[in-house]
Amino acid sequence: METKQAKMCGEEKIHAINNILLEWWRESGRQLPWRKNRSLYGTVLSECMLQQTRVSVAIPYFLRWMERFPSFTATAEAPEEEILLLWSGLGYYSRARNFQKLCQKIVKMEQFPETPREWQQLPGIGPYSAAAIASIGQNYDAIALDGNVLRILIRLHADWLPRETFRDKNLAAKNLQLLIEVMKIPGRCGAIGEALMDFGTEICTPRGPKCNSCPIEKFCSLKKLNLSAATIPHFSKATRPPVHVHRLWCRGIGGIWLVRSQRSRLRDFYELPVLSEKFLSLPVIHTFRRTICGICYVEHVHDFDGSAALSPFFPTETDENAQIIAVEDLNKIPISGPHRQCIGKILAEKEK
Ligand code: ADE
Repeated sequence: METKQAKMCGEEKIHAINNILLEWWRESGRQLPWRKNRSLYGTVLSECMLQQTRVSVAIPYFLRWMERFPSFTATAEAPEEEILLLWSGLGYYSRARNFQKLCQKIVKMEQFPETPREWQQLPGIGPYSAAAIASIGQNYDAIALDGNVLRILIRLHADWLPRETFRDKNLAAKNLQLLIEVMKIPGRCGAIGEALMDFGTEICTPRGPKCNSCPIEKFCSLKKLNLSAATIPHFSKATRPPVHVHRLWCRGIGGIWLVRSQRSRLRDFYELPVLSEKFLSLPVIHTFRRTICGICYVEHVHDFDGSAALSPFFPTETDENAQIIAVEDLNKIPISGPHRQCIGKILAEKEK
């Protein structure tokens, strides 16, 4: 005999999944600071911080930011140095600058943007953030679609999706458009989006999904197809070779030589100076990696712990961006997270 679930198909099945997901979310959703005393400002800030940053990392930054700059106006009027310092460690500093520009635009507007399309006109806001802000912060009927949501939907609906959607994010998003329209419950899209975010983090994880505790397992097509959720979807990432950068470690009198970066993404951040190629034979004392815009940079730090004044290759006062920074002042200037960590490690090593 056919069970009730087996009869469910199309819209009925999608709505049943939605209802179970929302129920699960009410009981088991994450308590996150931007979900407490919700505000549009808090939603925009959290979405900007969560672009390329994990929730656990963003939480303390969000709390500090709300304390220091609790409104669009406060952020709009803040000195850029302070913005960068407060963001320091979250990475991708263009996001901090864009967030401030966004606040500056918002405070000049007569009314807030209301649709994802309008949000996308603002600096740093892409399609995902725009849909998340409008749906979570303003009850707009959009569902924010990211890799997490795609993964869940592909696993649920693999039985009717073409196989290539298991490997290609863009194709998957295109093929799931109609389904997403059907998933929308007017006035509940923000909640559906947040439920999916939590479900993708807690249950339907990329590897090692917790199918035994999944409240919608009976609807999952992978089970029916006898396919493993641990391997589907498997979006291919184009891998680019890493870029090697060589930097100099040099203690001048009274501090460490640092350079104020002029590169657009890290503009005004202090970094260890780049070493000229001629001096690559100096010993490497530390190596670290960081990823910027999908490119992995391997940074090798070479030791020249002599006097900067004697160095023919080292930045001098003629390089207006190079400065000796006293160790006790390092916390007062913006330094990217990986560089700050690297400097801390070398200092600790040298002081042993
Ligand atoms: N990732 C992106 N936006 C999020 C949000 N609002 N809550 C949790 N994770 C997220």
